[in-house]
Amino acid sequence: MRIDVLSLFPEIIENYCQTSILGLALKQNLYQLNTHNPRDYSKDKHHKVDDTPYGGGAGMVLAPQPFLDCLGEVTVMSDNCVTRAPQDPQLQLSKLRSFGTRKPCSRTPQQAPYPETLEIIITSPSGQPLTQELARELSTKKQLVILCGRYEGFDQRIRDKATMEISIGDYVLTGGELAALSIIDATLRHIPGVLGDPQSLEDESFSKLNYLEKLKELQVSKKEMLSFLEETGISREELEELQLLEHPHYTRPADFRGDRVPEVLESGNHKKIFMWRLAEAIKLTRLKRGDLLN
Ligand code: ADE
Repeated sequence: MRIDVLSLFPEIIENYCQTSILGLALKQNLYQLNTHNPRDYSKDKHHKVDDTPYGGGAGMVLAPQPFLDCLGEVTVMSDNCVTRAPQDPQLQLSKLRSFGTRKPCSRTPQQAPYPETLEIIITSPSGQPLTQELARELSTKKQLVILCGRYEGFDQRIRDKATMEISIGDYVLTGGELAALSIIDATLRHIPGVLGDPQSLEDESFSKLNYLEKLKELQVSKKEMLSFLEETGISREELEELQLLEHPHYTRPADFRGDRVPEVLESGNHKKIFMWRLAEAIKLTRLKRGDLLN
C-alpha cells in the first residue's frame, strides 16, 4: 500500500511512522509513505495557504490552490507512476519532504471518479467515524491520500475532491495530523506482516467473531454451554457474531504484592481459559460499551 499525506506539518506524520511497528513495516517495504507540504505549492509570494472566509466569520480557511495543486501532483504519481518512488525506504524517507517539488510526471492528474483502489480522505470532525471495520476496508486499497486540515478547515472546493471524510471522534482537534495517524495506524495493522503475530488482530477489541464456533471447536459440553450462557446472559445466536472489548491480560509475577493472577490462567486448561476470557470480555463490554451488544 502507498500512503500520501498532505500536511502543513509533515514531520508529525514522518516521526510517528518511522517509530516502532510502523517504522519496522516501512523499512520492510510493507507500505510506502510520502508526505507533501501544500505550502510548497502555494503561488502566493509569502507561501500563504489560508485566507479569510467569504461572508465573514472567525478564523482562516485553507485555500484551494495550494492543496489542489499538491493533490493533482500526488494523484499523477499514483498507480502507473509509483515506480518513481525510490525503492529503498531509507532513501525514500530522506527524500520525503522534497517529493512534491520533484520534476512532475508527464501524465495528467487523475480526475474523479478515481479508481476504487484509490481513496482520497479528508480528516474532519464532520466525517464518518473511524471504526475497526472501516480501517479493515481501507487496508484493501492500493493507495490512500490523506489531507490534514488546520484552522477553520478546508475550502469546500477541496472537500469536493475527496472520496471520503473521516472523523476520529466527536471533538475538535487543532489539526488533522492526529486523525491521519489514527487512520494510518488502524489501517496498516490489517496489512499482512505488519503485526508479528496475525492472531493479535483477531483477539483484540472490536473484532466481530463467531464465538459459538470456537466453543464447539473446544468441545464444550451441553452442560458447560448452558451454564456459560446463563452466567453471561448471552444467547446462542448472539454468540455467533459478537463484537467485544478485549478480555483482561496478565503477565508474571503470578502474585504482585498480594494481588494474584486469576487461578484459571495458571491452570493450563485451554478450554477453561478461553471460556473465562470470553465471559470477562462480555462483562467488560456490557459495563463499558453496552451499545456493542445491542
Ligand atoms: N480535525 C479536527 N478534529 C478532527 C476530528 N475529530 N477528526 C478528524 N479530523 C479532525
